[in-house]
Amino acid sequence: MKNLVILVSGSGTNLQRIIDAIDNGEIRNAKVSLVIADRECYGLERAKNHNIENILIPRGKNFSDELAKQIPQNTDLIVLAGFLSILKPAFCEKWSGKIINIHPALLPKFGGKGMWGHHVHNAVIEAKEKESGATVHFVTSGIDEGEIILQKSFDITEDDTPETVAEKVHLIEYEIFPIAINKVLNNVTI
Ligand code: GRF
Repeated sequence: MKNLVILVSGSGTNLQRIIDAIDNGEIRNAKVSLVIADRECYGLERAKNHNIENILIPRGKNFSDELAKQIPQNTDLIVLAGFLSILKPAFCEKWSGKIINIHPALLPKFGGKGMWGHHVHNAVIEAKEKESGATVHFVTSGIDEGEIILQKSFDITEDDTPETVAEKVHLIEYEIFPIAINKVLNNVTI
């Protein structure tokens, strides 16, 4: 059984999707052993509701060092699921190849510092992009720069707003995140 540690900062709908995908067998041979939040958030409540071990480590400059102490050594994959703190390079290197993130756009476009949440969708609409989507990628010390594991796009229509794009991106995330996790954990080809 592979151990997943999930990091959250927000409502945790992707965390919920992962929990459900393990329950229904879309992600095989895995359990969420720990949920860590960097602030009070509904993601933490979801962990409690499912009796999953959970910790709050307040965000700030010592976050990565505290996180390093709390991650069990037998962790197979660290999953950033709507997680907003930037992890220190030393942490990313120590867990290299074992940390993945979901980003609400088609990387390498619309990534990097400041590109999170509504900022991404505002920028996409502002740039009159023809498509957007979601990307699951490995985490390295360069923000949103690690190797892409899986990406899926959708067409943007004239009626789309940052809000409707956000909703469509979320649906794509729920589709690709379990597939990407299963691929990385169990070496399944997509
Ligand atoms: C997702 O859109 C994810 O791509 C981004 O933050 C959002 C998290 O949503 N990094 P939720 O907390 O999983 O509902």
